[in-house]
Amino acid sequence: MDISDASRTTTQTVTDYDRAKEVQAFDDTKAGVKGLVDAGIVNIPRIFIRPPEELVEELTSHQTNFQVPVIDLDGVRGNNLEEIVDQVRAAAETWGFFQVVNHGIPLNVLEEMIEGISKFNELDVELKKEFYTRDQTRNVRFNSNFDLHYSRTANWRDTLTISTLASTNLDPNEYPEVCRDAAREYIKNVTKLAETLFELLSLALGLKAEHLLEIGCPKEYILLCQYYPPCPQPDLTLGATGHSDPSFLTILLQDQIGGLQVFHDNQWVGVQPIVGGLVVNIGDFLQIISNDKFKSVKHRVVASHVGPRVSVPCFFMGHNAEIPKSYGPIKELTSAENPPIYRDFRASEYFSKRFSTVLDDNSPLHQLKL
Ligand code: OGA
Ligand code: NI
Repeated sequence: MDISDASRTTTQTVTDYDRAKEVQAFDDTKAGVKGLVDAGIVNIPRIFIRPPEELVEELTSHQTNFQVPVIDLDGVRGNNLEEIVDQVRAAAETWGFFQVVNHGIPLNVLEEMIEGISKFNELDVELKKEFYTRDQTRNVRFNSNFDLHYSRTANWRDTLTISTLASTNLDPNEYPEVCRDAAREYIKNVTKLAETLFELLSLALGLKAEHLLEIGCPKEYILLCQYYPPCPQPDLTLGATGHSDPSFLTILLQDQIGGLQVFHDNQWVGVQPIVGGLVVNIGDFLQIISNDKFKSVKHRVVASHVGPRVSVPCFFMGHNAEIPKSYGPIKELTSAENPPIYRDFRASEYFSKRFSTVLDDNSPLHQLKL
């Protein structure tokens, strides 16, 4: 079926089916998208089919040869610091995205993390169901589509979330056993890398190196272990709808399959996987506190016949759980000529704005403008 046929089909169906009921039935299986694929479906359920106007628009957007900047962190503690800070500044101001290599996390830590997440998703569905919940107070939870009940189109992915937002005391027993050691080791390493990146970003903003650490940017995190099963009709849906991230910074580990795209210069640009590399992007919170100097850029994941694909974005969230902190444009970055663009906010307030709209609507950024 080509896309124009699909648009006609969905024009008829979008209005005349009980979406909420089908969404609920899918959720009740607790088997996620992988459950559909394992059942051998050839036509994807209509809750996953994007609206006709989006599918048509897709025909006019094209990929380019652009490449997200790659920054070599070798020598970050030595002679190369200044050069690295310049590269980070340029990437954060224009792309909002870059990849890092020689970042110090051993390759086996990355590989074992991806393997652990694959293994979790491949567990017997009855075992996985024990983790299936939408209860935000649980530090570790598995489900398909965190926004399933209010998004316009469901995404072709399942997610294991490991978060410190409800409580910073993450008991090791809460992790699924198959990925416990790998996830704990990865989190330890990625948090350390985040600290280095926040130092570089502070310097890139013209602040002292410790600034973003002192306001707690790397303190709490949400680790999303994403699993994108192969899709029989990838042109009709997406792995992840276009969005910007609700974080200060996101560090993303991906396998070699690809599918992540960044919106740059009015086009979708693919982020080419690099063995041992990690993708870094500026989130909405850093755009706000940098008073728009750094950009939080829209990105998405396309669906594919090829898979499963595994990726693990870690969102660094600042202080939330114990003493929620307000954040706003950094004083040193504003002046009479460059007044603050945003008011102070808390993550909880940002989230309530964000989740009252669908993921691909305007982000809450404009609602926090002064
Ligand atoms: C996300 C995201 C990209 C990916 O979960 O916010 O952008 O490659 N994921 O999985
Ligand atoms: Ni994202």
